[in-house]
Amino acid sequence: MNRYTIPSPALSEPGDKAINRIQDLRLVRVEKLRDEGIGSTRAWEITFKVPSLQQAGLGSAEEAAIKANQIRAGMQIALLPVNNNARVERALEGLKDVQRPQWKGNMATDTLVQGQLPGRDNAFIPPQMLSPAQILAHTVDLTRPTKELMSLVMAESNENWGSYATLPVEEFVNLEGIRGRLSLSDLQKWQPPLENRKYTPSRVDLKKGEISLMVSDTPCSVQHPDGRTLHCHGSMMGYLSDVIDQFTPSQQPVIHGFLDVRKHKLPYHKDEAPKILIGTGVGIAPHLAYLRECAAEGKNPNVPLMIVGVRRESEQLRDNELRGYLPRGTLQYAYSRPALGEGQYVDTALKANAKTVWQALQAGGSLYLCGREDMRKGVDATLLDIARTEGGKSLEDAKTWLKEVVYNKDNPKEHLLEESMSFHDRFYEDKHKKRMAKLNPENGKTT
Ligand SMILES: Cc1cc2nc3c(=O)[nH]c(=O)nc-3n(C[C@H](O)[C@H](O)[C@H](O)COP(=O)(O)OP(=O)(O)OC[C@H]3O[C@@H](n4cnc5c(N)ncnc54)[C@H](O)[C@@H]3O)c2cc1C
Ligand SMILES: NC(=O)c1ccc[n+]([C@@H]2O[C@H](COP(=O)([O-])OP(=O)(O)OC[C@H]3O[C@@H](n4cnc5c(N)ncnc54)[C@H](OP(=O)(O)O)[C@@H]3O)[C@@H](O)[C@H]2O)c1
Repeated sequence: MNRYTIPSPALSEPGDKAINRIQDLRLVRVEKLRDEGIGSTRAWEITFKVPSLQQAGLGSAEEAAIKANQIRAGMQIALLPVNNNARVERALEGLKDVQRPQWKGNMATDTLVQGQLPGRDNAFIPPQMLSPAQILAHTVDLTRPTKELMSLVMAESNENWGSYATLPVEEFVNLEGIRGRLSLSDLQKWQPPLENRKYTPSRVDLKKGEISLMVSDTPCSVQHPDGRTLHCHGSMMGYLSDVIDQFTPSQQPVIHGFLDVRKHKLPYHKDEAPKILIGTGVGIAPHLAYLRECAAEGKNPNVPLMIVGVRRESEQLRDNELRGYLPRGTLQYAYSRPALGEGQYVDTALKANAKTVWQALQAGGSLYLCGREDMRKGVDATLLDIARTEGGKSLEDAKTWLKEVVYNKDNPKEHLLEESMSFHDRFYEDKHKKRMAKLNPENGKTT
C-alpha cells in the first residue's frame, strides 16, 4: 500500500514543531455509546495509541509540553480528514477533465505520504504524480458548493442554482446542466481546503500513550432535485464513521493527526477553586477527561455542579461513570426533547442552581463550557439573571460584572468563563470568507 503524509497547514506555523508533527494515531478501541434512535444520533468513544504520548523515548519538546500542562485534560488535538471513496468517485463522475478514478484503494485507510500536496507549501510530490482521486480525497472540502463555485456555472444560465446551495459538492457537480462543466482545478480553487478538525479528548492517558475522543453523527439531510433525500454529514464524521466501521481488534486503522499544543482549550489545572462544568452532547468529553484524570491521580475534584444538555434521557453518555466522580457534586441534565413535558437547555438548569453557581463564583470559581457555540448566549443571559437575583445587582451592574469580571476584558487570562465551542459552520461562514477576501482584497468578492 502506498503511504503518504499530508502535513497540516498548522505545521507551517511557528511553534513547537516536534510535538505538532503529524503522526499515525492507531485505533485501539471503539465503544459505541449510543445507537441511532428516533431523532437520536449514534455516538462513540474511540481510543487511539499516540506514539509521542508514550513516556519512553519522549523528545524534549514533548517533555516540556507535559510539564507545561499542555498535554492534560482540556488539551486539543487535530485530525486530518479524508473524503471517502463514495464521495470522491461521485464527484469525479461530474467533472469535465478527469476519468473515473483508477485507484482501487480505500481512501479512509490509505493515507498519503512523505510530502505535501498541491496548494500547500513545499510540495515534495509533483502534483502530476497524484491521481485526481487522491487530490480530491485529501485536499478539497466537499461539504457544499461555495457561491463562487456556483457562480462559475450560474453566469451562463438563467436558472436559479442558489436553491442547490446545500447539496454536497459531489451531487452539485452531477446536476443536469452542470455535469461536465466544472473542472478539478475549479474545485481546488473555489472550494475550501480540507482542513484539520479539532477535538478535546475525553481521556488523556500518558502512561498508556492513549487518547480517547467522543464523537456523534451530526444530523443533516437535504433534498436532491430528483426527489432523493440525501443524508449528509461533515467530512470528518463521514471519515471517522467509515474508519470506525472498519475497526476490528486485529485490524487497527490509522488516522493522521497531531497534538495541538499551541492552545490548551480548557485550563482545568489553573487553580483549585470550584468548577461548574457545562456541556452539550459529546461536549462532556473534556470534562470527563478532567474527572478521569482526578480519579487516576487520587484527587477529589472541586466540582459542585455539572450540567449536561442532551435531547432525551436515552442520550445520556457515561452517566454512571460521571456520578461516580461527583459524589458530593450535583449532576443535572437538561433534556431538550423529553418524552413528557417541556424541553429545556442547559441555561434553564443553570438558573435552577443559581445559589450554587453564585457561591462558586464568589469563591473564585469558574464555569467551563464545551459544545455548541450558540449555548454561550443562553449561559450569558442566565449569568446576568443570577447576578441580579443572587448578587442583588441592578441590570446595569450585572452587565458590567459580566463584562469586567466574567469576561475580564482587561486581563482575559483571569476570567471566569473557560470555553471550548464549535461553530456550526466553521469554513463557510468564517474561514472561507476570509480566504475569498484575500483573493480579492478590494471587496472580498470573486470576479
Ligand atoms: C476546540 C474544539 C474541540 C472539539 N472537540 C470535539 C470533540 O471532542 N468531539 C466532537 O465530536 N467534535 C469536536 N469538535 C468539533 C469538530 O472539530 C468538528 O467540527 C466536528 O466533528 C464536525 O466536523 P465534520 O467534519 O463532521 O463537519 P464539517 O465538515 O465541519 O461540517 C460542519 C457541519 O455542516 C453540516 N453539513 C455537512 N454537509 C452539509 C451539506 N451538504 N449541507 C448542509 N450542511 C452540511 C454537517 O452536518 C456539520 O454539522 C471540536 C471543535 C473545536 C473547535
Ligand atoms: N468544542 C469542543 O471542544 C467540542 C467538544 C465536543 C463536542 N463538540 C461539538 O458539540 C456538539 C455535540 O453534538 P451532539 O450531537 O453530541 O449534541 P448537540 O447537537 O450539541 O446536542 C446536545 C444538546 O444541546 C442542545 N442545544 C441545541 N442548541 C442549544 C443552545 N443554543 N443552547 C443550549 N443547548 C442547545 C440540543 O437541543 P436540540 O437539538 O433539541 O435543539 C441537545 O439537547 C457538536 O457540534 C460537536 O462538534 C465540541
